[in-house]
Amino acid sequence: MADKQAIEEFYIENRTFPPLSDFTQTALASDSSLYEEAELDFEAFWARQARELLTWEKDFTSILEWELPYAKWFSDGELNISYNCLDRHVQNGKGDKVAFHWEGEPGDTQTITYNELLIEVSKFANVLKDFGLQRGDTVAIYMPMILELPIAMLACARIGVAHSVIFGGFSPDAIIDRCEDAGAKLIVTADAGYRRGEPSLLKINVDAALDSGASSVKHVVVVNRCNIPVEMKDERYHWWHDLMLSASPNCPAEPMPAEQLLYLLYTSGTTAKPKGIMHTSGGYLTQVAFTHKYVFDLQPETDIYWCAADIGWVTGHSYIVYGPLTNCCTSVMYEGTPDTPRTELRNGQDRLQWSKDRLWDIIERYKVTQLYTAPTAIRTFMKWGSEELKDHDLSSLRVLGTVGEPINPEAWMWYHEHIGSASTPIVDTWWQTETGGHMITPLPGVTITKPGSACSAIPGVFAEVVDDAGNKVEQGGGYLTITKPWPSMLRGIWGDPERYLKTYWSTYEGKYFAGDGVKIDNDGYLWLLGRVDDVMNISGHRISTAEVESALVDHPSVAEAAVVGATDSTTGQAIIGYVILRGSCDPSNELRDEIRNHVAQKLGPIARPKAVFLVPDLPKTRSGKIMRRLLRDVAEGRDLGDTTTLADANVVSAIQDGAQKSTED
Ligand code: PRX
Repeated sequence: MADKQAIEEFYIENRTFPPLSDFTQTALASDSSLYEEAELDFEAFWARQARELLTWEKDFTSILEWELPYAKWFSDGELNISYNCLDRHVQNGKGDKVAFHWEGEPGDTQTITYNELLIEVSKFANVLKDFGLQRGDTVAIYMPMILELPIAMLACARIGVAHSVIFGGFSPDAIIDRCEDAGAKLIVTADAGYRRGEPSLLKINVDAALDSGASSVKHVVVVNRCNIPVEMKDERYHWWHDLMLSASPNCPAEPMPAEQLLYLLYTSGTTAKPKGIMHTSGGYLTQVAFTHKYVFDLQPETDIYWCAADIGWVTGHSYIVYGPLTNCCTSVMYEGTPDTPRTELRNGQDRLQWSKDRLWDIIERYKVTQLYTAPTAIRTFMKWGSEELKDHDLSSLRVLGTVGEPINPEAWMWYHEHIGSASTPIVDTWWQTETGGHMITPLPGVTITKPGSACSAIPGVFAEVVDDAGNKVEQGGGYLTITKPWPSMLRGIWGDPERYLKTYWSTYEGKYFAGDGVKIDNDGYLWLLGRVDDVMNISGHRISTAEVESALVDHPSVAEAAVVGATDSTTGQAIIGYVILRGSCDPSNELRDEIRNHVAQKLGPIARPKAVFLVPDLPKTRSGKIMRRLLRDVAEGRDLGDTTTLADANVVSAIQDGAQKSTED
């Protein structure tokens, strides 16, 4: 019954999309056999994947040791991650295969083969060794999206040094916190990277960090990406190109225990100290390689795969670097944003062109077969309109993926129709920094998809929806839990075992609590509803922001929407919607009312927003997540809290102005 549900269900979506026979004929998985195998014995299933997808220096005898909250997978096995990503492919005759087609924002390009990548990685591993780094140490990496970034990561993995990649948009404070927490001994950076036509400075932030903290850092290696004059301040500073000039290309990959720490990746909490999420080697690589292969239906001989994320986030770690390279796949890697200027050679002359079709241009030129991006990007493309697509041939695309947030059904449909020519399967992949790899997603040749649903757990992962008391919910809204350990799960929070236990394993006994709301429908499909903290309480009804946002985006004039619950003296909380209109729509009071009524019609009167503000933009983190906390501050007229993780600091004042104006209208 609705009033007993942890989170109520309002949005009903009935459209279904079965895999097309053209696709299933060649798909790696086209029936339920993987699910059945994993259901029978999930440990044996993952052991088979580990042996088939990876090369082990020493085979394992133990599959899983599980003592809540700690899991060890394949613990007596030994392997080297960089060997799995590089050497074995070269040994198998794939040395000349392209690993990355890299494209810089200004339009410069570089192609690197597996053989070349192995040489660069080996050289940089020797550089690290020359600095005295060894197994157990940590290196921080603060770089733009250039090839030296995966090279540095793989060089660390080659010698058992953990890396901690710090997203290039973060401030000196974030560098200090992360370096100090991890005790990083060396940091790799660049003068700058290109973003929207300008060099976005990086090294200067490292200087500022080292001036006031991060005393564990003894060496700084600087890549010259943009030819910005930089000061090599003291003997700690070195140019990447100088060091690489004299480095030997021979560096044997050292076998590591399966549970060797591969990396730390800090999740930035909104208030609390960031958590250093720990990922280890054998289990992580197994799940990442498995999902990259089956979720994207990878045909490694012919596919050109593109994950348009930043390596500073887990998506880039798992699905730009480790998954694709383990599977010997050819990828595209792009430095900039979708709306960037580029230099084009026309009639023998360089011309700077500003455009919003960069993604489509790249897909067409490289004949990309898989595109993996975020719902926020898709909604931005909707806002820009399908004009940007014309004149681009996207017919090479075979699989489309999304990650990072719930995808509204209408955004899904837009992706399906405009990018996927109404035939390309879409995989909506739910996972987290903590889970390391995909957890809930369709398999494109197997699953009948529904727009807006991540469908079901992958083979070998077990998800359960529970209510407040932890009882299983068979149908309706609740909280997402994972009931069994999985190979790529986090192994802890660096330096804080209590917080690890408390955050993830204490809410529901014996189960991992993901912190997300979810609903399960009559067919057992899972519909992610966003973070539990974002659930609104309207007159005692717990309504998810995701559902109201989907109803808003369902209106033909709306491109993107964010919803918050603002304190209300009558209803406890009231729904406030912030809406970006599609390119060609004119704002008016009538339209605002029409949009509010549309939500009421779609979800019921209880979900009618008290107010809808038409705004030019929404506050987002650099990874594209809407910062609802700031919108609550705006709605409740408070001073803004911490805004340091905002991608564009001007957005909130534009919204405040817009909200003010809408109220006066
Ligand atoms: O709320 C979920 C949302 O993103 C959170 C994880 O964020 P992060 O650790 O930054 O990792 C993002 C990339 C894996 C989740 O708790 N999320 C991620 N993917 C989806 C999603 N929400 C709905 N649908 C998704 N496909």
